[in-house]
Amino acid sequence: MNTNLTGKHALVCGASRGIGQATAELLAEMGATVTVVARNKERLEEVVESLSRNRNQQHQFVVSDFSKPDEVKERFAAWLEATPAEILINNSGGPPPGPIADADGEAFLAGMRAHLLCNQYLTQAALPGMRAAGYGRIINIISTSVYEPIPGLGVSNTVRSAVAAWAKTMAGELAPEGFTVNNVLPGFTATDRLTSLISGRAEKSGRSEEEIAAEMRGSVPMGRFGEAREIANAIAFLASPAAAYITGVSLAVDGGRLKRL
Ligand SMILES: NC(=O)c1ccc[n+]([C@@H]2O[C@H](COP(=O)([O-])OP(=O)(O)OC[C@H]3O[C@@H](n4cnc5c(N)ncnc54)[C@H](OP(=O)(O)O)[C@@H]3O)[C@@H](O)[C@H]2O)c1
Repeated sequence: MNTNLTGKHALVCGASRGIGQATAELLAEMGATVTVVARNKERLEEVVESLSRNRNQQHQFVVSDFSKPDEVKERFAAWLEATPAEILINNSGGPPPGPIADADGEAFLAGMRAHLLCNQYLTQAALPGMRAAGYGRIINIISTSVYEPIPGLGVSNTVRSAVAAWAKTMAGELAPEGFTVNNVLPGFTATDRLTSLISGRAEKSGRSEEEIAAEMRGSVPMGRFGEAREIANAIAFLASPAAAYITGVSLAVDGGRLKRL
């Protein structure tokens, strides 16, 4: 099975920590040169330093805030023209939690800006380079809420479905060129995002964080949270030459939590 990414450049968004960082590490191990993107410059510098340890590739970072899609559009149109990427990992922080009945309009728009618009602009900016290289892999990190909405994540559930519909449409359009567009849907994964969801639920319910975490683990047939690296494994496979005939899928990596067929 060919999972060699030597000579390829991957743009990995939301890569200062969590699933994005684990993905950047794995893609670099597989031979890719990686550009990591997020807001926190110091964290990105640390990630690039750790990626570069014991390896020859020249990894880089770009500081960018996905709450400002017009800036993202302009920045990456120029960046990707100068540094084409064959692999694009669309990823950013999840929308804040809360019941959908309480959400105001701006929360939906903010979610759409950070997830849908940035995915669109980054994809548009990356396509010329993919076409020149004859290789294109676009992987969107979404959520299992694409299949089963998660209670208490009203805005997130809504935005994630929009991103999944966008991705499926893009997959169909790009398939004739041999480029793939897929979604990875993390289940409960041990990152800062999960920690903040657990503490939010604990605060709201008056129960302890341990109790909430145990309840969440109990809803996973495997009885544990996933590791960021376990989600990255699926992402990296989809980015590889071996996954050339897989497109338009939403792959849950959730320890068996989804109940749908
Ligand atoms: N962990 C889970 O259990 C789980 C489950 C389902 C879905 N997901 C989703 O999967 C994605 C990744 O999750 P994660 O657990 O790795 O999250 P995380 O630990 O919170 O990391 C999010 C990453 O996105 C970056 N980011 C956040 N806001 C940004 C912005 N406005 N502009 C640019 N970058 C931004 C963060 O870096 P900076 O702060 O430096 O910008 C960080 O690198 C999220 O959309 C999350 O909601 C996670």
